[in-house]
Amino acid sequence: MAYQATATAPVNIAVIKYWGKRDTALILPTNSSLSVTLDQDHLRSTTTSRADAAFQGPDRLWLNGKEEEIKDGGRLWVCIKELRAWRREMEESDSALPKLSEWPLRIASYNNFPTAAGLASSASGLAALVSSLSTLYALPQSASELSRIARQGSGSACRSLFGGFVAWREGTSPDGSDSLAEQVEPASHWPEMQALICVVSDAKKGTSSTSGMQRTVATSPLLSARLAGVPARMKAMESAITSRDFPAFAELTMADSNQFHAVCLDTSPPIFYLNDVSRAIIALVEEINRANTTPIAAYTFDAGPNAVIYAQAKDMPVIITAVKKFFPTEQEFTDPLKVGEAPLPQGFNDT
Ligand code: ADP
Ligand code: DP6
Ligand code: CO
Repeated sequence: MAYQATATAPVNIAVIKYWGKRDTALILPTNSSLSVTLDQDHLRSTTTSRADAAFQGPDRLWLNGKEEEIKDGGRLWVCIKELRAWRREMEESDSALPKLSEWPLRIASYNNFPTAAGLASSASGLAALVSSLSTLYALPQSASELSRIARQGSGSACRSLFGGFVAWREGTSPDGSDSLAEQVEPASHWPEMQALICVVSDAKKGTSSTSGMQRTVATSPLLSARLAGVPARMKAMESAITSRDFPAFAELTMADSNQFHAVCLDTSPPIFYLNDVSRAIIALVEEINRANTTPIAAYTFDAGPNAVIYAQAKDMPVIITAVKKFFPTEQEFTDPLKVGEAPLPQGFNDT
C-alpha cells in the first residue's frame, strides 16, 4: 500500500522584511512582514511525498536530487511531526482510513531556480513540503493553519501558502498560535503589478538567513530602531496596496530593503549581502525614478545580491530596456523542469 502526492509552491519576495526571531525554536519573528507571491512558474519548488507501508527506517528527503538529513528536532522534522499528528487524529476518529501516519515517508523536492542564493528558496521549499504532505494526508486544515506549520520550517514559508499580497502577523502568543500568514489582497486586486528578477549571482550565500538574523538580533544596536518603525510601515504598506498607490508602495519597499541591509551592516561581524552589481542596480533604479515625476520602479533585495524590481506592467518595458542596456549579460529563462515532471531520485522507492 502506498500513497503519493506532488505539490508546488511559488516564492514570495518581502517588501517589508522579516529579519529577527524572538523565539528561535518556534520561529516567532521580531516584526510582522509583508510580501508579494510571484504567481508565474519561474521561481518555485515542486515536492513529491510518498508514504509506503513497505518503507523501512526513518523518513528521508532529497533536495535537488541530493539527500539531506532530517535531523531529530530540526525544522523539517518538526513540520513532518506536526502534519503526521494531524493525520493520526483523523485516523483515530475514522478507523476506515489507511494508517498513513504509521508509514515512513520519502520526500523529493526540486527548485527550478538557485537554492540558498537569496531568492527565497526556503520559502517556496518549505511551503511545497507542507502542501505536499497536507495533500498526501488529505488534511482538512486551512491555509492559515498550515501556515503555522510552514512557519516552523522557515519563517518566510508561511507567506508562500497564499497568493497575492500576504502579511505574516507576528502575533503575541508565546506558543505561536497567532503568528501566521493571511492574504491582504489577492493578485487580481492589482494585476498591473509585476516583478523583474535580476539574478546577479546564483551562488549559495555565505551567511544563511537563519544565522544572519540570529547574529543581527544578538549584536545590532540599530535593530531596535528598525523594529520601532515597522508597525507604521506595515500600515502604510497595506494602505498603499489597498489603494494601488504605486509611488507609496515603491518608496516603502526601497526604504525597507535599504534599512534591512543597513541592519546587516550594523551586525557584528558585518553581513554583506549586496555586491557592486546590486548597488549599481539600486543606482539605476534611483536614476529611472528621478527621471519621472513619481517612482515607477521599486528595488528590493533579500539576503543575497539578487535584485527584484517591482513595477507596473505599463512601465516594465522601459525598465527592462534600461537593465539590459547597463547589464548586458541577459540570458533567457528556461525552466529545467516541467511542472510535476521532476524525476524521483535514486533510492526514493527503495524499501
Ligand atoms: P534562501 O534565500 O534561498 O531562502 P535560506 O538561507 O533562507 O536561503 O535557506 C536555504 C535553505 O532552505 C537550503 O539550504 C535548504 O536547507 C532549504 N531549502 C531550500 N529549498 C528547499 C526545498 N525545496 N525543500 C526543502 N528545503 C529547502
Ligand atoms: C531577507 O525565512 O529564510 O528573505 O526563518 O530562518 O528560515 P528562517 O529565515 P528566512 O528569512 C527570510 C529573510 C528575508 C526577508 C523575508 O523574506 O521576509
Ligand atoms: Co530563506
